[in-house]
Amino acid sequence: NHDLAQLVETSDEWVVTRTGIRERRFTAEDEFASHMAIHATENMIAKHGPQVLDGVDLVILATSTPDALLPATAAIVQNHFKLKAGAFDVIAACPGWMYALSAAAAYVKSGMAKKVLTIGSDALSKILNWEDRGTLVLFGDGACAAIVEAVPEGYGFKSFVLGADGEGAKHLNMRCINTTLPDGSPLTEKVSMNGREVFKFAVRVMSSATREAVAKANMQLTDIAYFVPHQANFRIIDAARSSLELPPEKVVSNVERYGNTSAASVGIAMREALDDGRIKDGDDLLLVSFGAGLSWASSVMRWHAKTF
Ligand code: UT7
Repeated sequence: NHDLAQLVETSDEWVVTRTGIRERRFTAEDEFASHMAIHATENMIAKHGPQVLDGVDLVILATSTPDALLPATAAIVQNHFKLKAGAFDVIAACPGWMYALSAAAAYVKSGMAKKVLTIGSDALSKILNWEDRGTLVLFGDGACAAIVEAVPEGYGFKSFVLGADGEGAKHLNMRCINTTLPDGSPLTEKVSMNGREVFKFAVRVMSSATREAVAKANMQLTDIAYFVPHQANFRIIDAARSSLELPPEKVVSNVERYGNTSAASVGIAMREALDDGRIKDGDDLLLVSFGAGLSWASSVMRWHAKTF
């Protein structure tokens, strides 16, 4: 925060009070989403052994900051690890990785794929307006990687809720090829956001989408071991927690150290809660994310601590 206060009119105190964020990580000039995606996958190999990638037949990579429009960043990862796999990117803003998880789960369930390397990687620092204090202080760069494959009966994804409301496109956007939205409103060259509108939407949807995912799984909120929300702003997380009447110790939050890492945020939070021993085999997790679109995704899953 102190570094950013040298660049724009802000302060550590403002950022901490309004968002809970103290630190974030930015990629080096020559590092992009593919580098972080490869790193996250290498971390997975270091933890579980090289056999973790054996039989991967599909790579799905969620990002809003692909290295290039062509090829898909997923294909760069496929080539790096020499996987005999299909590869495509998902662009669905912050909930992108959860959309990717839902796609991976559906591929596995239908038998169209057996083992899906499912990555969320975003280098938001590359598309920020470094003069806009309203967005600059919020975002960080990061990546997560997971394997989605068949699990024993009772484990795995129990529900997914996916939603979008394109009416809200004007609240959070950035230009790519077209310079306007369909209604003619201009798209900015770098990310622009109406923070207040997104805040209100986020609090509303975090609560409704999570309730929906729990109901779809035929469960109660009290069955949930850990709530792993998108890490955008601690005030949003806490408002959702309070409306869901969840005790603070059931909430996984690391927004303080990473800021909003977009498609990577839920995965990084899960990984930390696994590493420190909070999430255990058989725990029921409630995941939720929201972002540009406007869009959202939630899911209930039972964690399977597999040894590869
Ligand atoms: O993945 C989805 C991504 N987006 C989000 O989740 C963002 C959701 N929105 C938010 O988290 C909050 O709306 C923000 C953190 C962006 C802003 O917090 P807020 O409490 O809604 O503040 P505000 O927008 O109402 O602004 C209050 C004041 C304004 O000044 P005036 O108009 O009251 O004089 C802003 O200009 O704070 C000012 N401000 C800042 N001041 C210092 C806005 N950004 C900053 C800043 N430092 N970085």
